[in-house]
Amino acid sequence: MADLTSNFIGIKSPNPFWLASAPPTDKEYNVRRAFEAGWGGVVWKTLGEDGPPVVNVNGPRYGAVWGADRRLLALNNIELITDRPLEVNLREIKSVKRDYPDRAVVVSLMVPCTEDAWKAILPQVEDTGADGVELNFGCPHGMSERGMGAAVGQVPEYIEMVTRWVKQHSRMPCIVKLTPNITDIRAPARAAHAGGADAVSLINTINSITSVDLDLFAPEPTIDGKGAHGGLCGPAVKPIALNMVSEIARSPDMYGLPVSGIGGVTTWKDAAEFMALGAGNVQVCTAAMTYGFKVVQEMISGLAQYLDEKGLALDDLVGRAVPNVSDWQHLNLNYITKAVIDQDACISCGRCYAACEDTSHQAIDMSEDRVFTVKDDECVACNLCVNVCPVEGCITMKRVEPGDTDLRTGKVVSAQSADWTSHPNNPMSVRAAE
Ligand SMILES: Cc1cc2nc3c(=O)[nH]c(=O)nc-3n(C[C@H](O)[C@H](O)[C@H](O)COP(=O)(O)O)c2cc1C
Ligand code: SF4
Ligand code: SF4
Repeated sequence: MADLTSNFIGIKSPNPFWLASAPPTDKEYNVRRAFEAGWGGVVWKTLGEDGPPVVNVNGPRYGAVWGADRRLLALNNIELITDRPLEVNLREIKSVKRDYPDRAVVVSLMVPCTEDAWKAILPQVEDTGADGVELNFGCPHGMSERGMGAAVGQVPEYIEMVTRWVKQHSRMPCIVKLTPNITDIRAPARAAHAGGADAVSLINTINSITSVDLDLFAPEPTIDGKGAHGGLCGPAVKPIALNMVSEIARSPDMYGLPVSGIGGVTTWKDAAEFMALGAGNVQVCTAAMTYGFKVVQEMISGLAQYLDEKGLALDDLVGRAVPNVSDWQHLNLNYITKAVIDQDACISCGRCYAACEDTSHQAIDMSEDRVFTVKDDECVACNLCVNVCPVEGCITMKRVEPGDTDLRTGKVVSAQSADWTSHPNNPMSVRAAE
C-alpha cells in the first residue's frame, strides 16, 4: 500500500489528513478520539489571548444549504474562537502531544494586532511541545469586528507585519491561514510569504447568509429576531478553494511556498484534487462534523489505492495538475467536441432537450416517441446537456478528430493548436497585427 507519510514544512504526520481548526479540534476529548480514528494531525481550535474567554451566542450558531436529498452541501456558522480558558487549552494540547508524538499538533492563534500580544502567547504555545502555529487571519464574523481574523487577512500589510513578529518571537513553523473574502487571494499570500511564513493555508469560511426566515423576516440562524452574516464551508465551497489554491501554486513569485488546502474536502478524491493543484496536505472540518471522525478512513484507503493504481508517491501528486492550469486565452480553439447520447442509458426525461432548446443552441432533436438525438450541425459542445442529465455517463462529449469536418462550421478540423492570442478576430493577436 502506498506510503501516505506526510512531511509538511518539517511537521511529520502518518497521513496528509489534518482536522482544521474548528469544533472537531476544540478539546482534548475530541482530538484524542480523532487520532484514534486515524487523523494524521490537527490544527487546534483557535486560541485567543489570556484573560476572560470570548462568549458565543446561546441560540443557534449554524445555518445550512442542503441538496434535494437533504445531503449537507454547505454549513454556515457564527461561532467565535475558543470560549475555553487559555490555560485549559494549553494543558490539554501538551497532554495530547505527549501521548501522540507521531501526529501533527498545530495551534491556531488569534490575538490583537500588537507585537506584545503575539510576543506573550507564542512562548506559552511553544511550551506545550506543539509542532507549529497557524495564524487565523480568516474568521469573517465577530472577531473581525474587533480588528482580528479577516480584518487582518484583508490587509496585506498587516499580514506581513504580524507574520514577521511571529517569526521573530518563535522558532515554531508558522502557517498563515487566509480569508477568501478578498478580491485576489495572491495579495495576502504574497504578504505572508514576504513576512516569512513557512506556509499558507486556505480557505477559511466565506461571508454568507444561507437563508431568511420569511415569518420573522430575519436571516437564519436567527437569534431573538436578528441574524448576522456567518462563514460558509463544506462541499459547496470546494470550487472556490481549489481555484484559490491553484492561483497561489501557479504564481511564479510564490513558487515553492507550501500550501495546506482547506474547503469542502469530504472524500479522498477531494483531497487528491487539492494536492494535484499544489496543496502539500489538506485540512477538514465540515465532513468530520457531518459524518464523524471515521470519515478519515475512506480518505486514507482511497488515496492509497489511487496512488497505487497510478504508481505515484504522495509527493509526486503534489502540484501535478498545476502546469495544466491555464488562462482562457491559451485554450486550444481547434479542440472540437460534440455531445453524444447513449440511447441504451437514456430514460427519455427530456431535461437535455429543455436545456439545449431554451437556453443553449437548439441542438437536440426530440422525436414524437421521445427519442433524443444531438444535431451535430448545431451543437457547440457547451456541455450543458451533460450536466443536467440525471443519468451519469448517458451523454458524453466526443472529439471531432483532426482531418474530419465540423458539421456546424463546415470546416475541416485542424491538428494544430490555436488559441485566442493568435486568432484573426483578436485585434491584439500577432496574426491580426501582420
Ligand atoms: C463551526 C466552525 C467553527 C470554526 N472555527 C474556526 C476557528 O476557530 N479558527 C479557524 O481558523 N477556522 C475556523 N473554522 C473554519 C474551518 O477551519 C475551515 O477553514 C472551514 O470550515 C472550511 O473547511 P471545510 O469546508 O472542511 O469545513 C470554523 C468552521 C466552522 C464550521
Ligand atoms: S453540448 Fe450544448 S449545444 Fe451541444 S447538445 Fe448539449 S446542450 Fe446542446
Ligand atoms: S437528459 Fe439524459 S436521460 Fe434525459 S432525455 Fe436527455 S439524454 Fe436522456
